[in-house]
Amino acid sequence: MAASASLMKINVQHPIKPMFLLKPASQKPSRIRCAAATTKPSKRYSITLLPGDGIGPEVISVAKHVLNLAGSLEGIEFNFQEMPMGGSALDLVGVPLPEETLSAAKKSDAVLLGAIGGYKWDKNEKHLKPETGLLQLREGLRVFANLRPATVLPQLVDASTLKKEVAEGVDLMVVRELTGGIYFGKPRGFGTNEDGEEIGFNTEVYATYEVDRIARVAFETARKRHGKLCSVDKANVLEASMFWRKRVIAVAAEYPDVELSHMYVDNAAMQLVRNPKQFDTIVTNNIFGDILSDEASMITGSIGMLPSASLGSSGPGLFEPIHGSAPDIANQDKANPLATVLSAAMLLKYGLGEENAAKRIENAVLETLNKGFRTGDIYSAGNKLVGCKEMGEEVLKSVDSQVAAAV
Ligand code: IPM
Ligand code: MG
Repeated sequence: MAASASLMKINVQHPIKPMFLLKPASQKPSRIRCAAATTKPSKRYSITLLPGDGIGPEVISVAKHVLNLAGSLEGIEFNFQEMPMGGSALDLVGVPLPEETLSAAKKSDAVLLGAIGGYKWDKNEKHLKPETGLLQLREGLRVFANLRPATVLPQLVDASTLKKEVAEGVDLMVVRELTGGIYFGKPRGFGTNEDGEEIGFNTEVYATYEVDRIARVAFETARKRHGKLCSVDKANVLEASMFWRKRVIAVAAEYPDVELSHMYVDNAAMQLVRNPKQFDTIVTNNIFGDILSDEASMITGSIGMLPSASLGSSGPGLFEPIHGSAPDIANQDKANPLATVLSAAMLLKYGLGEENAAKRIENAVLETLNKGFRTGDIYSAGNKLVGCKEMGEEVLKSVDSQVAAAV
């Protein structure tokens, strides 16, 4: 924690020159420079980096170098600005999302977040929790659509706790509503009931426009995938879910080519481990999406592999690995940077429309896994155990080797 806090301090003092603050992940930068020099940048994007807490700074450092290299090969130049967020922002300026961080994020073309949170701030009051900063960031950027893919890679099928025949070939996408529902609904708070007993309460509420817009994102997503959408709710009990289902059915009229089904959330939780291959695209509310996307991630074997994209109808998207800050392994060079690297690929694809650069990164990750490199969380016998930095260097080598292939 101390290291990430001091890193933040440096960044705030020099917000304009963040590119030189992180140690390069690769020990062989000359090849990178060479590649960058041969392609004249034609496009420039500004990216806000929010390293955050725990393993966040380590994985963001790797992703930044991968972005730089993949970008340079596609004539793209990035201007990175690192800003404090989460626990490290709390230590630095006393709030989990400083105004400067939100305004920098809003002005940029895309935002890449590492992870936030840690034991140190767990007992803080709610408005001083790192998680509150993340919710404020999602709200501030109005990123209502959270895409969380869960793909079982053939290289990692043995990392799944499910039987091989159940896990292999799983390729699903959870589309989670991110700025509404019980996370934000009012009234909320603590109080006393008529018996004088203390209570805590929240409100699950959705308006028409909120369900309609997330449903449209989900139908569009399903259309680009395998054309199947399953809407998950608890419409047998909750009014908010009955309403959700009614609106999803109404929007479905615009997408006759997409096959729509509905499932109660308890059944969906069961089906995800029973037969996950039945799912293509899942759309659900904020809290069910939070839970089901963690469950879906475990089918793939490691939460350390899974990226996410949060998108609004305009403005920059927010891209982050779905894993947390893992304070127990922070600053030990043990973290798996691949979820953040793949989040950078989602940033290119969904945030900037730079599909070629995104593909380069995705291919490089697959090649690195094919070569047998594994961090501890995805390690199995016969492979090569590496740390966060070395994994990053190997991904860089694979991105770089695609130059030769492209020439
Ligand atoms: C997630 C996390 C967050 C959430 C927390 C950290 C606020 O669990 O992104 O899934 O509940 O949305
Ligand atoms: Mg979660």
